[in-house]
This record gives sequence, structure tokens and C-alpha cells, in this order.
Amino acid sequence: MRPVTARAPAHRPQTDSYAVTAEFYDILQADEDEARVRHLYGREVAKARIGVLDIGAGTGRVTLMSLAESQADVHAVEPARAMRTSLMTRLAALPARQRERVTVHPHALDEAALYAVADVAVCHNTVACLPPSARLALWPAIGAALVPGGSLFLELPPARLPARNVLRVLPEQRVGEHVYGGRIVMSAAGNRIRTRVDYWVRGVEGVLREHTERFWMWPASRTQVIDDLARHGFVPLPGHDDPAFLAVTLRAPW
Ligand SMILES: C[S@@+](CC[C@H](N)C(=O)[O-])C[C@H]1O[C@@H](n2cnc3c(N)ncnc32)[C@H](O)[C@@H]1O
Repeated sequence: MRPVTARAPAHRPQTDSYAVTAEFYDILQADEDEARVRHLYGREVAKARIGVLDIGAGTGRVTLMSLAESQADVHAVEPARAMRTSLMTRLAALPARQRERVTVHPHALDEAALYAVADVAVCHNTVACLPPSARLALWPAIGAALVPGGSLFLELPPARLPARNVLRVLPEQRVGEHVYGGRIVMSAAGNRIRTRVDYWVRGVEGVLREHTERFWMWPASRTQVIDDLARHGFVPLPGHDDPAFLAVTLRAPW
């Protein structure tokens, strides 16, 4: 017998982004985020008839909520291996009937070759971290993955650079004998936002370990994102006024 070597198709090389963050993401942020994504997108994904597209699925918050709220197929697009590992662990714990409705695409959306698979797309907490060139590739890929008339619900990036350093402390969480904590510091650096995330684990004797991961974010105004999306056939949906979010629909061709 000849050995068979499975090869991944020639996509961009895997990055180890989120390699540190993945361990801490759910324990420090899951509860709050779970309620938030259900509130923000639950009613929208429940209306999906063809499919739900989760762009930047991370550890699966929107994916799992979509499987629960909708009867449609779900496409979870997640390029970072570390985040995908948590996502797959969550999916493995689901009943087979729910799991067979979700497909995980281990690429950036513009490399996933998805065409007309969804009528509802969600892009939560993802666009901010994409450089302008990646956003330019993302918009037409969303247009291709949605059917005409489909909708996109998107968390907008920060509109501008922070005027001073912004600190966000993540509430500490106990796991057995240890306490997990984290903090995020955002500061302006040229036309980007430098985001430093520090994590720690404490035991009774004090700090057991500390880790840091850095990210960049690129600000963009709501108008700029609307204009960019308009070039790819999207128009704003009325009735969605939350300033941090944008709802658009893909015009049907005429
Ligand atoms: C900050 S995380 C948010 C994850 C998840 N949406 C959440 O809110 O929990 C952003 C995710 O987007 C993914 N990502 C980055 N570029 C992407 C792209 N071009 N297409 C799809 N996902 C992407 C990253 O790997 C990362 O897991």
C-alpha cells in the first residue's frame, strides 16, 4: 500500500494569531458576549432560510447561537487555528443532528470560495482587526457568499483613533484554585490603534503566569464602511440605528 499524504490547498500560510488569546477568550468574555450576540443578531439569524454565514467565527459564539436560533445551515469561517480549536471542541459537544448543519471553513472569507450559501451574514468583532487591504477583499467575498436580497449585520470598527490610552479590565474568573484575569489597553499609533492584551493566572501564592498578545486595529467611520459596501451592491437596511453596528442588504441585480 502506498502512503497517502493529505495536503491543504495552497492558501495563505496559517498565522498563529490568537495563539495566546484563545486560551483566555472564553473564560474571560464568554458570558457577557453570549448574551450580547443573542440580543444583537438572534432575531436576524432566526429569519435565515438558506444559510447563516459567521465571518470570523472565533471560538463560536455566533455560530452556536445561530445553530440554536435558526433551522438553516451555518457556515463558520475562521482562519486562525487557535480559535478554530475551541470552535471545534464546542461543535464536538453538540448532538449530531445540530452538528451536521454547520460547516467550518478554515480560511479567510476571501479564500473560502463560498458562493450564494447564505441569506444572513454576521460579522461580529472582526472588521476592526482587518487592515484596509483585507477589508477590500472581504466586501466582495461577502457579496459572493450571500444570495441577492441577503443581509449583513456587522459590528463597526472604532470610528476614530483614541485621544488617550483606553483601559478595559476584564472581570476576573475563578477556575478551581486559580483566578484568571486580563486587561486591554488601546492607544493611537499613527493611523492605527495598538491593542495590547495582558492575561494572568493567580494562585494563593500570587501570579503563576502572565501572557501578552498584541493586535492592530484600523478605525473607519460608519459612512466610510457604508460607501465601501455600496461599491459591492450593499445598501443600508432601515430600522437599525445602533451606532456601533451596521445592517445592510445586498441589492438584487436588475
Ligand atoms: C476578535 S476575533 C472575534 C471572534 C468572534 N467573532 C467573537 O466575537 O467572539 C476576530 C476573528 O476574525 C478572524 N478573521 C480575521 N480575518 C478574517 C477574514 N478575512 N475572514 C474571516 N475571519 C477572519 C480571526 O481569526 C479572529 O478569530
